[in-house]
Amino acid sequence: MFMHKPLATSAVACLMAGCASSPDTVAQSSSARPAFGVPAPAEMLASWDISIAPDGAGLPPGRGSVQQGAAVYLQKCASCHGERGAGKPADPLVGGAGSLTSKTPMRTVGSYWPYATTLFDYTRRAMPLNNPMSMSNDEVYAVSAYLLFLNGIVGENEQLDAQSLMKIRMPNRDGFVSNWPRVR
Ligand code: HEC
Repeated sequence: MFMHKPLATSAVACLMAGCASSPDTVAQSSSARPAFGVPAPAEMLASWDISIAPDGAGLPPGRGSVQQGAAVYLQKCASCHGERGAGKPADPLVGGAGSLTSKTPMRTVGSYWPYATTLFDYTRRAMPLNNPMSMSNDEVYAVSAYLLFLNGIVGENEQLDAQSLMKIRMPNRDGFVSNWPRVR
């Protein structure tokens, strides 16, 4: 019976290591702890823990106005998304209101996206395409405000922060069925 224990341990190690079974892996599996590397420091995890839920959970402190966003946009977005979000060479970010049920639907942040909070999340993590995760939270709030203004969703003098962003109801909100239990 004493043979079973080392066998079971190496079977678990084999599962975890993707079954690269060699004499070496079997030998390692008998040590007290598997050599998985070093624990990631909290600051390292925090810099990647940036998902924003549709209801706005996880939105960071900070704020930015439409006016500030116009400046950010000109400097960091317009080269790819065109003047005032008109598009070219990359996607248009503005326009298409009411076009979704037509023969030529135009899907933009304004016409298509169901949650304004996603605009913050996506922009912060993925844009500008050539330098993602480089903007401050204030810059992301500001450029989000500017894009929402260009789409006629917020006013010219709006300033966005976590509270005001999560209250925005996007025009196509009912075009999606939510599988997110906390959001109606
Ligand atoms: C170097 C070019 C480039 C720059 C600069 C850039 N983008 Fe983009 N952007 C893209 C491309 C390409 C896509 C499409 C990416 C994809 O579909 O995976 C995109 C997609 C997007 C989308 C999603 C559009 C949609 O409806 O699917 C948003 C929103 C966006 N960008 C915002 C921004 C903002 C805000 C900035 C400035 C802070 C910015 N982008 C700067 C190239 C760029």
